Amino acid sequence: MVQLNDTNARSFLDDGALDTLQPEVDAAHRAVLDKSGAGSEMLGWRDLLLDPDHDLLDDIEATAEHLKDEADVLLCLGIGGSYLGARAVINALTPYLGASASADAPEVRFAGYQTSGAYLNELLEDLEGESVYVNVISKSGTTLETALSFRVVRNWLEDQYENPAGRILITTDKDQGALNALNDAHGFHKKYVIPDDVGGRFSVLTPVGLLPIAAAGIDIRAFFNGAAAACEELDDADVNHDALRYAALRYLLLQNGYDVETLAVFEPKLRNVGRWWQQLFGESEGKEDKGLFPTVAQYTTDLHSIGQYMQQGQRTIIETFLLPEEDPGDLRIPETDHNVDDLNYVAGKSMADVTQAAYDGTAQAHADGGVPNVTITFDEIAPGPLGELLHFFEHAVAVGGYLLDVNPFNQPGVEDYKREMYDRLGR
Ligand code: PA5
Repeated sequence: MVQLNDTNARSFLDDGALDTLQPEVDAAHRAVLDKSGAGSEMLGWRDLLLDPDHDLLDDIEATAEHLKDEADVLLCLGIGGSYLGARAVINALTPYLGASASADAPEVRFAGYQTSGAYLNELLEDLEGESVYVNVISKSGTTLETALSFRVVRNWLEDQYENPAGRILITTDKDQGALNALNDAHGFHKKYVIPDDVGGRFSVLTPVGLLPIAAAGIDIRAFFNGAAAACEELDDADVNHDALRYAALRYLLLQNGYDVETLAVFEPKLRNVGRWWQQLFGESEGKEDKGLFPTVAQYTTDLHSIGQYMQQGQRTIIETFLLPEEDPGDLRIPETDHNVDDLNYVAGKSMADVTQAAYDGTAQAHADGGVPNVTITFDEIAPGPLGELLHFFEHAVAVGGYLLDVNPFNQPGVEDYKREMYDRLGR
């Protein structure tokens, strides 16, 4: 279960502020449910959970099996919403020092999300001799970073294999865009469709996220069912849910001058869940001069870089801690006879105990130093709870966008850099 603890934020709010806001929160929540708010034609990410397409899930699992048999590496090309969700879930659920959840699953790697030629060169060199399949993921099919990488990778595949098209899987719009044209010309191995009514950053429960996640050997049924259960729980106009309280608290703190939110994780496997969250909240809320600026920190590592600022810098930051109830490891600290390093006072404790103390101490110190903070906990780093968590954030940001009176489902500002870049490239 995903839960919110707001003890360290309440004192930063005016008395009764949450109660006063409640009718607006209820209205925003209802607008999501009955599709009456701005951008409501993009609420398909809820529909696909409330009315699951089991044939599609079967099909994705069958493709993942094929990849397990044939591929050493699945190279996923995509940017923004077309890769952050899959990367977040795969990083959370695979070993620290590898990229697949089971021995027979291919390693899932990512490219197409930046413009570094050096990276692509090095990656392709590293892939020499491996059985590589490619999943290119782009709803528009025109995103330059992904499209250029795909062109380079296609050339490379042509040099490496007799049937390069048979190693390519595309995930894109049902009929628009260059990927469809390329598919018509070359006949790729497989095509998955990104539904019209699901935007990139809300697409992790579509083939955009599900195919790479399944290929990595992760149980996508459990992941999907976790998200679907959260969606059903929230599909009630009168529900009193922590996702709504999270949206309300952030909104009220923004009104009080806190315009930066740092999502802080202690478990390194959650760092990319933070990067996914950052895009979800940044693109959904940051428009019309509104919204909290979302940043991500990995503690305790970053307490030794931005910890000073968090404690004593400008008092405009709120902090959201993200913690699994179950720590994934139970490494015990050994006792030593001579205690030269003076650490026997923690001997016998686990590293999880140290993490707990670090979290408790940080939350307290930062609240005392003027940083309102909330804590979101979820059961464990496993497929079902992660599905539930991601849906919690998706619903919260939809409600948050409506509280801010913006359309949470568009991203008009992203086009500006593209236009400038294309001008310079002579398009
Ligand atoms: O959330 C979004 O819609 C964006 O981040 C897109 O996912 C991103 O720009 C990539 O777009 P596309 O899938 O069209 O290549």
